[in-house]
Amino acid sequence: MALAATCLFRFGYPSCKPNPPAGAWCYCNPRTTAGNGVLEINRSSWSSTAAARAETVAGAGRRQDKKDEDECASYLVPERLEVLREMEPWVEEHVLPLLKPVEESWQPSDMLPDPAALGSDGFHAACLDLRVGAAGVPDELLVCLVANMVTEEALPTYPSGLNRLEVVRDATGADATAWARWIRGWSAEENRHGDVLNRYMHLSGRFDMREVERTVQRLIHDGMSFPGPVTSPFHGFVYVTFQERATAIAHGNTARLVGARGAGDATLSRICGTIAADEKRHEVAYTRIMGKLFEADPDAAVRAMAYLMRHRIDMPTAFINDGRHSGRNFYDRFIAIAQQAGTYTISDYRGILEHLIRQWGVEELAAGLSGEGRHARDYLCALPSKIKRMEEVVLERAVKAKNKPTPIPINWIFDRTISVILP
Ligand SMILES: [Fe+2]
Ligand SMILES: [Fe+2]
Repeated sequence: MALAATCLFRFGYPSCKPNPPAGAWCYCNPRTTAGNGVLEINRSSWSSTAAARAETVAGAGRRQDKKDEDECASYLVPERLEVLREMEPWVEEHVLPLLKPVEESWQPSDMLPDPAALGSDGFHAACLDLRVGAAGVPDELLVCLVANMVTEEALPTYPSGLNRLEVVRDATGADATAWARWIRGWSAEENRHGDVLNRYMHLSGRFDMREVERTVQRLIHDGMSFPGPVTSPFHGFVYVTFQERATAIAHGNTARLVGARGAGDATLSRICGTIAADEKRHEVAYTRIMGKLFEADPDAAVRAMAYLMRHRIDMPTAFINDGRHSGRNFYDRFIAIAQQAGTYTISDYRGILEHLIRQWGVEELAAGLSGEGRHARDYLCALPSKIKRMEEVVLERAVKAKNKPTPIPINWIFDRTISVILP
């Protein structure tokens, strides 16, 4: 899983939600001519107009909510779920082999000083080497690394999500279905990601580990929000595919930025690169699963993808919190830091969407599409260029605001500040 940017939404990317921003109608000020009752008449007229508009908006909101409910329910009808049951032998053959056997898997100990192998003096010397490498990593990359690590450490939340999906779920915790074995095998591979990052951070001496640990506990406690119907495998697999690719990109970018041509920390670069390779493998698995669903039920698949994109893909760490900010306040700041550091950017977000549109042949979909399906396809195909325009707006704003970065103290790095241009 990834901490991926929803930054474009912070810059006002339109959602399909009909609700306007609070107070939007107040832009239409009533005339203030006084003395002849016009004011009252106009105010009354304005109020009733505003009330009528508000009623219209509320009505549209209710209609949209009902439409969403109907849309979600349509994914849970038996015939649609049957596709998932029929896919099980295919999952056995084409998805499970993408997991690596434990005997062939890397472990955190392979990438960090091992006291059992090195002995006391050797371990001490290796730790000092590690700390020398870590000393050159700039603060904004340290902050991004913490967010990546916290995202990985919140792992218990993610299999819980997959285990809510109809048909796919591991109902007993030890089901023998191919779907259940995939979920457990995938979780087991993911578990090493948080472990190795956590251990590196501990040894590097560059982090206030107690604050980081508190952030992990908070995030697991607070959970995550999912933008679609939580039991629909169609929506679940679109989301996870997006996430795995985003994670691969975020860890890959971090590996590059901290590596030999960047900050010069070879150990950290190797760790992040190894995790990125795992995420790529997971991405392939989920892309295949979703590709199969696109083949079997293109209308349902394309509508699910459009639904998620319209309702905004909020990433699993949207609730990340350093204990000092409320709500999404901290997440929004972190998104700006990741954009500035280059670990995950709006361009990456657009690139993922473009990639998935290509992978699943969304543009070419025609047969078997309902009117809603064709709408969804057209919406998705037009979305990357809309995002591209948003990127340009963001860049323009960044250029204009260049002289006004906001210093943000981060307790993960002992309250040192990151200067970042906030949207
Ligand atoms: Fe991971
Ligand atoms: Fe992964």
